[in-house]
Amino acid sequence: MLKRWVLLAASWAFVGLPVAAVAEEGGFALMHAGTDIDNLESLQRGARNFMNYCSGCHSLKYLRYNRMAEDLKIPEAELAANLMFTTDKAFDTINVAMPAESEVWFGKQPPDLSLIARARGTDYLYSFLHGFYADKTRPWGVNNLYLPAAAMPHVLQAQQGLQKPVFKSEPDEKGGARMVMTGVEMMTPGAMKPEEYDQFVRDLVNFLDYAGEPIKSRRQALGLWVTLFLLVFFAFAYLLKKEYWKDIH
Ligand code: HEC
Repeated sequence: MLKRWVLLAASWAFVGLPVAAVAEEGGFALMHAGTDIDNLESLQRGARNFMNYCSGCHSLKYLRYNRMAEDLKIPEAELAANLMFTTDKAFDTINVAMPAESEVWFGKQPPDLSLIARARGTDYLYSFLHGFYADKTRPWGVNNLYLPAAAMPHVLQAQQGLQKPVFKSEPDEKGGARMVMTGVEMMTPGAMKPEEYDQFVRDLVNFLDYAGEPIKSRRQALGLWVTLFLLVFFAFAYLLKKEYWKDIH
């Protein structure tokens, strides 16, 4: 029995590992996304942001347009006019117009983002989209705090602006000094105020969280009802048990 518990504990420790590793990537603390999967307006804005700024390179191959429209209560005319850029059939999945050569352009193919929120977590996505900074050594002139040597250009530069790295000097092992990057600060402000950009990215990440598990909000609500039912059922079952055993004791 003890062995089983030890094995179980060990397996949990391993499950925890990748998450910890992600949080440590790049060495910078993650920001808090503060998303709310029940906020329909935020999800609608997030869908619009995704279609306009991300769907040119990234697909959501497990999500269909019509499912999204139904879940997010987007009218059909609105869907066809403003959100469906890659097809004219609402039952198609959200594919990408990007040809296979994209790997040559970027060095890496832009990944499908259907499950990215489940793989990386919402805080990581929120941080990643805040993490671009100027770096002349990179092909697109930008790097990312949370994904060092990222192959993705800073597609939201017009909105966020461009940040620059901040360094401090630290003594190294040989008695000299080396420059260590401690964070970033705004160099050229973008069209949005920082709070506006935060909200823009929060909506986008909220939408990616929805895309990773379209049933999440319903599952959570249902879970509450099932728990309530079990509590009430327990009360009745207990009374019944008392009634049955009354004559025996
Ligand atoms: C011009 C093409 C392009 C556009 C537009 C684009 N991306 Fe990317 N994206 C990439 C490429 C290329 C990668 C692969 C980066 C890598 O692994 O180094 C990537 C990777 C990512 C990743 C994975 C990061 C990781 O940790 O592996 C996320 C998340 C992401 N993009 C989100 C977005 C979002 C959200 C948008 C819309 C605001 C967007 N991308 C728009 C090209 C693009």
